[in-house]
Amino acid sequence: MPRMQHAALCAASGTISFGDVAGAFSYALDLTEGQPAGHAVRCCYIAGRVAERLGADPAQTAHVHYTALLKDLGCSSNAARIAELYLADDRTFKRRWKTVPPGLPSTLRFVFRETGASASWTRRIGAVANILRHGDEIAQDMILARCTRGAEIARSLRRDEAVAQGIYHLDEHWNGTGRPDGLTGQAIPLGARLALLAQVADVFHQTGGRVAAQDEVARRAGTWLDPEAARAFASLAEDEAFWRDLESPLIDALVAARAPVEDAPVDDDWLDAITLAFGQVIDAKSPYTAGHSGRVARYAEDLARQMGVPADRIRPLRRAAALHDIGKLGVSSAVLDKPGTLTEAEWVEMREHAAHTNRILGRIGVLSDMADLAAAHHERLDGTGYPLGLRGEQIRVETRIITTCDFYDALTADRPYRAAMPRQRALEVMAAEVGRAVDPACFAALTEVLESG
Ligand SMILES: [Fe+2]
Ligand SMILES: [Fe+2]
Repeated sequence: MPRMQHAALCAASGTISFGDVAGAFSYALDLTEGQPAGHAVRCCYIAGRVAERLGADPAQTAHVHYTALLKDLGCSSNAARIAELYLADDRTFKRRWKTVPPGLPSTLRFVFRETGASASWTRRIGAVANILRHGDEIAQDMILARCTRGAEIARSLRRDEAVAQGIYHLDEHWNGTGRPDGLTGQAIPLGARLALLAQVADVFHQTGGRVAAQDEVARRAGTWLDPEAARAFASLAEDEAFWRDLESPLIDALVAARAPVEDAPVDDDWLDAITLAFGQVIDAKSPYTAGHSGRVARYAEDLARQMGVPADRIRPLRRAAALHDIGKLGVSSAVLDKPGTLTEAEWVEMREHAAHTNRILGRIGVLSDMADLAAAHHERLDGTGYPLGLRGEQIRVETRIITTCDFYDALTADRPYRAAMPRQRALEVMAAEVGRAVDPACFAALTEVLESG
């Protein structure tokens, strides 16, 4: 069945395809990478068109599609490390790093310029010295963490092993100077080769325009990039229609229509699995939030059952709970993991995560009705919460459940500014907030659920 026709049928029959859901979630990955919105979707388009031009078969084209769309699945896992090592905003650092020309002199210039730019001289010198001494190990560790994590999450999203391998090898270079395994030439999976080419093309297209993208791909051909793929890109770039599509506001729909046809539409169980997989992407952003999204989702389900929430509302609640902090992908790790008190500007950035959650979930058709539920998890009954300052009855019971579970899990986990609290102490702290931040019925249900084990 032609792809356009398939996508239209999916829409008409009300079924959801993985391609649609993945395309929408990829905007969260752009936030983590500090890239302009739509980066992953555009990379998917570029890589797919180059694959076609190279004469890839349908199976290879499908692998290329999802490798490029989901290439940054593991990227949240090195954010905290980047912020810590380079004393920098991880998102800005990652965005600027992608425009640095290959080679040691430009890498060193970048490190000197970006490391600890707003830190004291002593901290800055210490950080630069550490990077110079251990730069190679640091780069290998960070890339390994990122690509291993990305490949694992791709597998939990039921992607073929070829996609997992493509994501794993995203940073390999044609001439063998890449990571993590230093693969050379055709030994690098096609998906990885084309996703890297697309990444270079999109970053330079966004920052410098069409010619900059063409020049940079040509410059890196044979060193970073597969020369044949670079030639295919150069010939595509002569076609005005290619650029028109790439710059079109309808690029999401164009890419969704190009998604490989899958037998199984996204049913409820499958959507639950997707939300939990993206919960892992969120939790990887900070060492302090490992497992947080999954636990909040589980607690929320337990509380809802305890409180007699109707069965048909529990599934959406669990998804909203798993994704409540997805907006944290748009917050710098230097702020998220800061051990001391936040400045006013940092606090504004931190609070912005709730609004980001609303925007990200709002784009995902099938999850959009959960956007408000999830994004209100820092609202307080007394009206002093954020982002909207809702109060009392304006806050839905599902949100109150998420807030309660989020609060409890935050208290009972280590935080940058304090150690984890034992259960009893956490309940005492929460008891003092009942009626102000914590709903009394939710708190009673939490206590009962914990007591019953
Ligand atoms: Fe939050
Ligand atoms: Fe949270």
